[in-house]
Amino acid sequence: MGTHSRTIIAPSLLAANFCRVGEAVKTIEDSGADWIHLDIMDGSFVPNITFGKKMVADVSSITKLPLDVHLMIRNPEHHIRDFVDAGATYITLHVEATVHAHRALMLIHDAGIGAGLAIVPSTPVSALEEIMPELDMALVMTVNPGFGGQTLIPFCLDKIQRLKDLRSHKGTSTLISVDGGINAQNAAAVRASGADILVCGSAFFNAENPVAELNLLRGDTQKTV
Ligand code: DX5
Ligand code: ZN
Repeated sequence: MGTHSRTIIAPSLLAANFCRVGEAVKTIEDSGADWIHLDIMDGSFVPNITFGKKMVADVSSITKLPLDVHLMIRNPEHHIRDFVDAGATYITLHVEATVHAHRALMLIHDAGIGAGLAIVPSTPVSALEEIMPELDMALVMTVNPGFGGQTLIPFCLDKIQRLKDLRSHKGTSTLISVDGGINAQNAAAVRASGADILVCGSAFFNAENPVAELNLLRGDTQKTV
């Protein structure tokens, strides 16, 4: 339960050149990565604005990879339908962005796709305790959301471990995703803390060799070029 033989790697399009999104999707596919992570930001919950449902729909039209949609927007419950229709495989919202996280998660379940809940670095893992049985995915942010290319905040690694303990305690099969500042140097520590999924933006797209980078992130040294 919750333990995967292979870590899921979800490169984030946030680090791609937005004039060349199609090429970025192809880079992700060719690298052997598992999912595509899409960061939706509203300029209110987080300081930055990125893109919305049309980008998700357009990406969905050119790939079969699962689309891991990370909503960093206020009142996400108002936008669930749009992102379902756009082709999301998982929709993750922030516990800090709505007082109605449960309602939003039910909307996602009703639509028949995966539901996730995220916490920023300052939010304790206990915020997920009651809702854990409803979560297909729990996302631990290891930077303050809003921008790619930040440095992983070390205390967040303990939160991954505590989340893993909470999952055992609750007996759920919730996937643990970790997002922010992950690179080849710290990926082993993040995996060891209990991550099932690593989201990776700048380290993946800035890598000279994305395949080699991916294998380092996954800890799959045999295939490292
Ligand atoms: C940050 C986003 C992340 C971001 C990760 O607010 O949620 O998904 O794209 O980018 P890196 O890996 O560069 O920290
Ligand atoms: Zn993200």
